[in-house]
Amino acid sequence: MKVGIIGSGGREHAICQSLKISNKFTEIFCFPGNAGTASLANNVELDLNNFETIKNYIFKKKIDLIIIGPEKPLVDGLVDYLEKFKIKVFGPNKLASQLEGSKIFTKELCKKFNIPTANFGIYKNKLDAKEFLEKANYPIVVKADNLASGKGVYICENKAEAINAVNEIFNGKFGKADKLLIEEFLSGEEMSFFTIHDGNIFKNFGTAQDHKRALDGDKGKNTGGMGAYSPSRLINKELENKIIKKIINPTLAGLSELGCKYRGFLYTGLMIVNNEPYLIEYNVRMGDPECQTILPKLKTNIGDIFLACCNQKLMDTKIEWSNKKSLCVVVCSKGYPEKFEKDIEIIDLDKMKLNENDYLFHAGTKSKNEKIYAIGGRVLNFVTLSDNFKSAKKIIYNNLSKLNWTGGFYRKDIGFRVID
Ligand code: AMP
Ligand code: GLY
Repeated sequence: MKVGIIGSGGREHAICQSLKISNKFTEIFCFPGNAGTASLANNVELDLNNFETIKNYIFKKKIDLIIIGPEKPLVDGLVDYLEKFKIKVFGPNKLASQLEGSKIFTKELCKKFNIPTANFGIYKNKLDAKEFLEKANYPIVVKADNLASGKGVYICENKAEAINAVNEIFNGKFGKADKLLIEEFLSGEEMSFFTIHDGNIFKNFGTAQDHKRALDGDKGKNTGGMGAYSPSRLINKELENKIIKKIINPTLAGLSELGCKYRGFLYTGLMIVNNEPYLIEYNVRMGDPECQTILPKLKTNIGDIFLACCNQKLMDTKIEWSNKKSLCVVVCSKGYPEKFEKDIEIIDLDKMKLNENDYLFHAGTKSKNEKIYAIGGRVLNFVTLSDNFKSAKKIIYNNLSKLNWTGGFYRKDIGFRVID
C-alpha cells in the first residue's frame, strides 16, 4: 500500500515518521514535505490549491490513502473533492471543517446545544460593535470569523484596543469580513484535548499544553506554538467525562443534524475554570507542535488507526500509549513571528546524535546539495520522552546546546507549569 501526507510542518514530519515505522506502506509521499520528510518519503512539490493536480498525481502513483495535516485544504474541501473520485482520505469534510473555518458557525452550534463557552455577540458592522463596546466589561475578546492562522484573536484590555480590533477586522486585515465576534474573557488555564473519529465513534488521542507566546514567561507575540508537553497537568477522569458529555458529544450531534459525520482528528481547545471545561475553539486537525509531542507516545500502529478510521472500524482498534511524559521545544528563525531571514544553513544538523527517546522533527527546512536550510518561521522541534517532565526538559536543552545554528531561537521555559 502507498500513503500520502499533505503538509510541510513538524506535525507532518511526525506523522510521516510514525507511518514509516508502521511498516504498512511500501511508499510514502509528502506534499510538499520538508528536509526531515525527505529522508523518509518522496517529497512532491504540487500546488495545494489545485485539487485536480493533486488527484491526478494520486492516480498516477496509485496512492491508496491520503492524510491531510493542515486546516486550509480541509476548510477548502479537499476531502469532499478526493472522495468524489473514490480516493481514501483521512480528514473531515468541508462542512465539518467549518468548526475551525468559521468561529461563528461553532459559536452558534454552542448556543443551540448548550455547549459551555464564553458568552458572545455577533456584530455585522462597526457601529453596532462599537456601541456594545461602550458599555462592555474589560478585558474582552474580539475575533475575526475566518481562518487567520491564529492571528485574528484580540485580547483587549480596554475600549481603545477593542475599537482598534473592530476596525482592523472590518477593514479586511484577515480577508473580507461581514461579521465579527466579541466574547467574554475567560480566566483559567488552557488545555488541548484530542480525539480521533471514524464517522461513527471516536477515541481519545491525548492531551497537551501548548505555549503560544514567542518569549519566556508567556510574553511577546502570539505564535503557532513554541513548545508543548503531554499530558496536560489538568486532565483527570472527571474532567475528561465532562469534556466528552458537555462539549464533544453535542457537537457531533449538531453536525449529525446537518447530515455530517466527522472523520479525522478533532482538536478541542479549552479553558478550564475550576475543573469545568469551556470551549475556546475547535481545530479540525492535530495541533502543531502538539502532534509532535503526542505521537512519540503512541504504541499502536498508526497505519492501522488511519485505515480503521477510513473503514469505520475504529471500534475494533485499541489505541495504546506509553506512560512517559513528553516535552517538545520548537526552534524558530530569529524574528519569528514577524520578519525573519530565509535560506540560512543549519550546519551539521544531520550529524546530531540523539538517544532512543529523543526525536527531532523538521518544520520550515529544505535540503539542497546535501545541506539543510531554514526556510520558515518555526524550523525544528526537539522532543524527548522521559519518566518525568523535569528530566525530559534537561535532555532537550542539552541536545539544543549542540545545535549549530546562530539564526535560531527558542524558549527556555517550556513546561514551566509542570516543572519547579
Ligand atoms: P483561538 O484562536 O480562538 O484559540 O484564540 C487564540 C488564543 O486566544 C487562545 O488560545 C486563548 O489563549 C485566547 N483566547 C481566545 N478566546 C478567549 C476567551 N474567550 N477568553 C480568554 N482567552 C481567550
Ligand atoms: N498549536 C496550536 C495549533 O496547532 O493550532
